[in-house]
Amino acid sequence: MSTHTATAISHPNIAFIKYWGNRDNALRLPVNGSISMNLDGLFTRTTVSFQPSLPFDELIINGHEVAGKGLTRVSYILDLVREMAGIKANAEVMSENNFPAGAGIASSAAAFAALALASSQAAGLTLSEGQLSRLARRGSGSASRSIPSGFVEWNMGSGDEDCIAVSIAPPEHWALTDCVAIVSSSHKKTGSTEGHAIAGTSPLQNARVQDTARRLEICRNAILKKDFEAFANIIELDSDIMHSVMMTSNPPLMYWQSATVEIFHQVREWRAGGLPVGYTVDAGANVHVICLSEYAKEVEKRLRELPGVSNVLAAGVGGAAKLV
Ligand code: PMV
Repeated sequence: MSTHTATAISHPNIAFIKYWGNRDNALRLPVNGSISMNLDGLFTRTTVSFQPSLPFDELIINGHEVAGKGLTRVSYILDLVREMAGIKANAEVMSENNFPAGAGIASSAAAFAALALASSQAAGLTLSEGQLSRLARRGSGSASRSIPSGFVEWNMGSGDEDCIAVSIAPPEHWALTDCVAIVSSSHKKTGSTEGHAIAGTSPLQNARVQDTARRLEICRNAILKKDFEAFANIIELDSDIMHSVMMTSNPPLMYWQSATVEIFHQVREWRAGGLPVGYTVDAGANVHVICLSEYAKEVEKRLRELPGVSNVLAAGVGGAAKLV
């Protein structure tokens, strides 16, 4: 086999209705559906090149060779692709992010979406959007949502085959901006893979899961109708519920810093004062402050003035993963 190469770009995403906990950890089948938007301007660019002469898979992220767990996770996706394509060659994977590591933006979503697209293409496969979403999911659950465009819903499905994400509205549907307030944190975080595995130990997880269909519907409708007040209320509720589960799991996961909570108070005050803003937080201390894009400059300025905020990154609504 000659050398087969492909390059793909994909955006990270921020969840409005969160994914936390799997019903199957190996297949990354979630216990509930989720909704997100892709983050424009931020991306991972990944080139995969299958080379029969390589003795093993190689992974280079931002110019540095990566071994251990990171490589194992990538080889797991490459194995699925090799099996589908009926090839044996090892691959060189070169990946670059244009956003800083530790910036409070989950890089794994963009990384596995770009890897799924580039590796399947390089192996000679042409997968549908659903098949790509399913493949990306095996690397990181939230990566399934970085395959389709704009506002995306990941359906829990009945099993592996229909557990895929679909676009519910294109990027131009609603001009929202995610202003990510970076809160300095020296604490070592528990990664989401470990977090999902202990979600069920919280006595609150069942209640969260039972109520998810209701929150999904409110969030989906708020997006479709561009009802910011309903949208802000539901994303804050959903984020607070997920963190309640995290804090009450065994071992407990406390991702918030005092600056995180201070931003919650400010955001609610600003909204009460007429500024269209709402907050949501992933498995970290940084706060994603979502606003109508016309107010993004004002929100960014206010966030920068708060104690404990070291930087603010702003991103609009991004498109689908694509080949370049
Ligand atoms: O895809 P993972 O395993 O990194 O999990 C993502 C978990 C959250 O970011 C906290 C929520 C979400 O839905 O993105």
